[in-house]
Amino acid sequence: MDRILLISFLFLLIAANGAAEYSIYNDIKMLEGLEEIDVEGTEMEEFFDIPGWTSQHGGKVLVNVDAFGAVGDGIADDTQAFQDAWDKACSTAKSVFLVPQGREYLINAIRFIGPCADKLIIQIDGKIRAPDEPKNWDPKNPRIWLDFSKLDRVSFQGNGIIDGSGNKWWDASCKRNKSNPCISAPTALTIDSSSSVRVRGLTIQNSQQMHFVISRSESVRISDMVISSPGNSPNTDGIHLTGSTNVVVQNCKIGTGDDCISIVNATSNIKMKNIYCGPGHGISIGSLGKDNSTGIVSNVVLDTAFLRETTNGVRIKTWQGGSGYVRSVRFDNVRMEDVKNPIIIDQFYCDSPKTCKNQTSAVQISQIMYRNISGTTTSEKAMQFACSDTVPCSNIVLGNIDLEKTDGTAETYCHSAQGFGYGVVRPSADCLQSSDKDCDSCRTQDARLIKPSTEGPLHTEL
Ligand SMILES: *[C@@H]1O[C@H](CO)[C@@H](O)[C@H](O)[C@H]1NC(C)=O
Ligand SMILES: *[C@@H]1O[C@H](CO)[C@@H](O)[C@H](O)[C@H]1NC(C)=O
Ligand SMILES: *[C@@H]1O[C@H](CO)[C@@H](O)[C@H](O)[C@H]1NC(C)=O
Ligand SMILES: *[C@@H]1O[C@H](CO)[C@@H](O)[C@H](O)[C@H]1NC(C)=O
Ligand SMILES: *[C@@H]1O[C@H](CO)[C@@H](O)[C@H](O)[C@H]1NC(C)=O
Repeated sequence: MDRILLISFLFLLIAANGAAEYSIYNDIKMLEGLEEIDVEGTEMEEFFDIPGWTSQHGGKVLVNVDAFGAVGDGIADDTQAFQDAWDKACSTAKSVFLVPQGREYLINAIRFIGPCADKLIIQIDGKIRAPDEPKNWDPKNPRIWLDFSKLDRVSFQGNGIIDGSGNKWWDASCKRNKSNPCISAPTALTIDSSSSVRVRGLTIQNSQQMHFVISRSESVRISDMVISSPGNSPNTDGIHLTGSTNVVVQNCKIGTGDDCISIVNATSNIKMKNIYCGPGHGISIGSLGKDNSTGIVSNVVLDTAFLRETTNGVRIKTWQGGSGYVRSVRFDNVRMEDVKNPIIIDQFYCDSPKTCKNQTSAVQISQIMYRNISGTTTSEKAMQFACSDTVPCSNIVLGNIDLEKTDGTAETYCHSAQGFGYGVVRPSADCLQSSDKDCDSCRTQDARLIKPSTEGPLHTEL
């Protein structure tokens, strides 16, 4: 349903609902806000026009890792050669850090630190592989493998493969074998403290733990990536966003043993478009609020996704006892196939061997919109809104939902959740409480609020 239809629908709702109108005025304001969520992209446009080096040899300085002694036979340790090539590429304007195709480079934990000279391109056409033995991992860098930081205006591209050789790490995980101690494992690719970065075309697979982390960064555009590891590999999130803003993730195919995409604290203005997810735990905001921490996530849009045989579809998960908020989130145009929990808000999240006590404080969840979400669920609870007793969820909006279970038993579970549905909502979400709080100031609201405005700055095309 498009914006104008939605607004007119609400107009009818008001006409039919006299007494409830005051809260509906608020709903409209909130919906208009949700419609306008978008990721600012202007600053990135010019940067992203830089053509690939292959189409423009002129003026580019090629820095091939082979020229720095990399062997590329998959056996020799090429870490130092990569480091030396990086130092050269990073200090040279318009350079291309090249990992050539047809070769396999064995690389240990390594930090690629900027800032670099202008217009660096990182062209990965070959395969980069991690050594597979956790016991030999560099103890100084337990959490990183390929770690890039302090970059500005840098483009990663190519059709190369980054392979974490994660098998032995997964076996050593406490999730797989309860008698193992819980240790941290490296993230395959990290981009930290950076701005205006594009990552396109690469494959990341079999990561030791998370595949791709964007942290403390802004204006990042990730597209046409393939991320894959087995469905039973523990904690292997696909793309993990933390402390970052203005991030676009587009045309990505992700299948892992944890969340396909996870969005955590201090992250805002995120757009995900054309995402395939499965196997995995779905597309998640959170977890947030662990150990009484503050978690803040706002302005997140998912538009067009296909999830297949995942444990969750679109999820928001928070621990008991946190603070902060998740606000202004839209999940649009999602098709699910055999998903266990297609739509879920879980404020009792507890990924711990001990049970988690209920507490009075919680991350506050509000203004969450789900539109055009259809498909099949494998559990009865097609939709679950399990919200904090003391900090209820508010303004959950459901429009055109059609989720079914083959045996026809799909239902909606609500706990401490306020919101409303419009259009077709199957299974019915009558368990959402309507907002009936008395609102004096709303009485003076101007009817202009409900006039459809001219098309706002919502652009789904990127
Ligand atoms: C679990 O880990 C323990 C201790 O590391 C080990 O002895 C045991 O063989 C492992 N079990 C399996 C099923 O891998
Ligand atoms: C979440 O982000 C806020 C704001 O950046 C910060 O103050 C807080 O410490 C962060 N919480 C955690 C758990 O890192
Ligand atoms: C979180 O706060 C609660 C209530 O104040 C307290 O009982 C609990 O020990 C705290 N948990 C942590 C991990 O600090
Ligand atoms: C609803 O979502 C599906 C799945 O992404 C998409 O194919 C379809 O075009 C959407 N319908 C509308 C009316 O946008
Ligand atoms: C926490 O509260 C929820 C909702 O009121 C309840 O279902 C659950 O059993 C409680 N959990 C514990 C550990 O007390």
